[in-house]
Amino acid sequence: MRIAIPKEIHPGEKRVAATPQTVLRLRKLGFEVAVQAGAGLNTDLTDSAYQEAGATIVEDVKALWSGSGVILKVRPPETGGSLGIDETELLSPNSLLISFAWPAQNRPLLEKLAARKVTALAMDCVPRITRAQKMDALSAMANIAGYRSVIEAAQHFPRFFTGQMTAAGKIDPAKVLVIGAGVAGLAAIGAARALGAIVRAFDPRAATRDQVKSMGAEYLELHVQEEAEGKGGYAKEMSDSFLKAEMALFAAQAMEVDVIITTALIPGKPAPKLITAGMVESMKPGSVIVDLAAEQGGNCAMTRPGEVVTHKGVTIVGYTDLPSRVASLSSQLYGATVAALLEEVWVDGKITIDESNQVVRGAMVTHDGKITWPPPPLPIPTPVAPPEPGVAANTTKIESAPAHANGAAPASASTMWIWMILAALFCVGIAWIAPPSFLSHFTVFVLACFVGWQVIWNVKPALHTPLMSVTNAISGIILIGGMLQLSGPQAGSSFTAAAILGAIAVLIATINVAGGFLVTQRMLAMFRRNA
Ligand code: NAI
Repeated sequence: MRIAIPKEIHPGEKRVAATPQTVLRLRKLGFEVAVQAGAGLNTDLTDSAYQEAGATIVEDVKALWSGSGVILKVRPPETGGSLGIDETELLSPNSLLISFAWPAQNRPLLEKLAARKVTALAMDCVPRITRAQKMDALSAMANIAGYRSVIEAAQHFPRFFTGQMTAAGKIDPAKVLVIGAGVAGLAAIGAARALGAIVRAFDPRAATRDQVKSMGAEYLELHVQEEAEGKGGYAKEMSDSFLKAEMALFAAQAMEVDVIITTALIPGKPAPKLITAGMVESMKPGSVIVDLAAEQGGNCAMTRPGEVVTHKGVTIVGYTDLPSRVASLSSQLYGATVAALLEEVWVDGKITIDESNQVVRGAMVTHDGKITWPPPPLPIPTPVAPPEPGVAANTTKIESAPAHANGAAPASASTMWIWMILAALFCVGIAWIAPPSFLSHFTVFVLACFVGWQVIWNVKPALHTPLMSVTNAISGIILIGGMLQLSGPQAGSSFTAAAILGAIAVLIATINVAGGFLVTQRMLAMFRRNA
């Protein structure tokens, strides 16, 4: 089956739905890949690079679309390009289209796709469940947009982000306020911190407090109690009184900070207006606002989508194409998420739409001549623990599988008692028959198991790696034991079993100790960078 990668026709769109790297992945699945001539030129991806990866280059746009069973795109099909025709009309019946689709705003597109009997999977509808993280194009793009927002701010800001003490005088670090600590917000915090700015952030979801702090920013407190966590870990619309209180906080901050990056969004709703014209005017001349929510109407009252405006010395950046401004990385990450979604429907060398697959069903907007959006709701969404520092993407997920999906029930109390009694009987049996010297070693062994178990039992799984690295480092006790065996009374009598085991213990324990110190050192360095 052939996959087509057309050149994006949306004005200014530089991304492309596959890179030579992802072409290799698609080829490995068994697809032929055809790329429109010049499709990647805006991202520095030449036709010859695609050819080297095994793709064929096609000049004729109509032949590219009509001769392919799968079409991979970034933007939804639209009218335009050199041919000036509607891309949906180029799709052959029963083909598979994977692209962003924004079904809530694009009903006419869905109708056209359904009329052409196209199966369309919308990248923006892939459910945010743990299993679908590798297909989460929205998070991948928001992460890039968050980083790029800081670069845009730095470009318009007339000073350094970092503070410096120079012979010519002291330069204060820039103060950055990030509103909304979702995927884009956390990425912006990371980038601004890395440039040396003082960063503050606010988000109504309580779960973000620790995430903000772990990225090295100050979390601004608002003393108004309101539950912000909505469906699937996303924020829900806040009450008027909450919005008023947070806007008072932002009004005070606006007079103090140099840069504001706003990312506040509730899925499917217009962006909340949080920065008023008055707040903009209260900012110091030279300050910058980057409004990531520009496409949804903007968080700032003065934002003009797609434009940069200056008002009384304050620059307001309303770009809606930030991922496209980092086109080659965006294409690479987008291409990888698309390939992962394609793998979900590629079963035994055939495109198979399995509607019981939550990811496929969630993303599918048209199938079999029908509009299939919105999908049925996912079973009981529960937010999961916040990510570890540095992991900006995918902050909220829904666990789709029940806790005991494999059918194994938790051990009942009575089963546990039976096991404990059996273990006790086993110990008594050993004590009965074993020689006294063995018994003292055995007692130490049993106690060590018990203490070890108790130590690890209460540690969160996220901390198991540091715990293991530290315990590895202290496994020097094994080293001493091994060395005693090597140098003991039998040492002269060459290769006894105890000496051989002692030597092996010394070797393995040395690797453990050195490895433990190395890993612990690396982890400490990671935390030091954030401090
Ligand atoms: P997200 O859903 O992960 O994060 C949005 C955050 O806003 C959530 O943490 C939510 O709690 C917070 N929020 C909601 N209401 C708020 C309020 N009243 N005050 C403060 N915070 C509030 O979304 P993500 O993926 O981080 O995207 C953020 C924004 O960036 C969206 O508007 C998205 O469309 C936009 N975006 C813009 C791009 C561009 O080129 N301009 C590219 C990619 C994303």
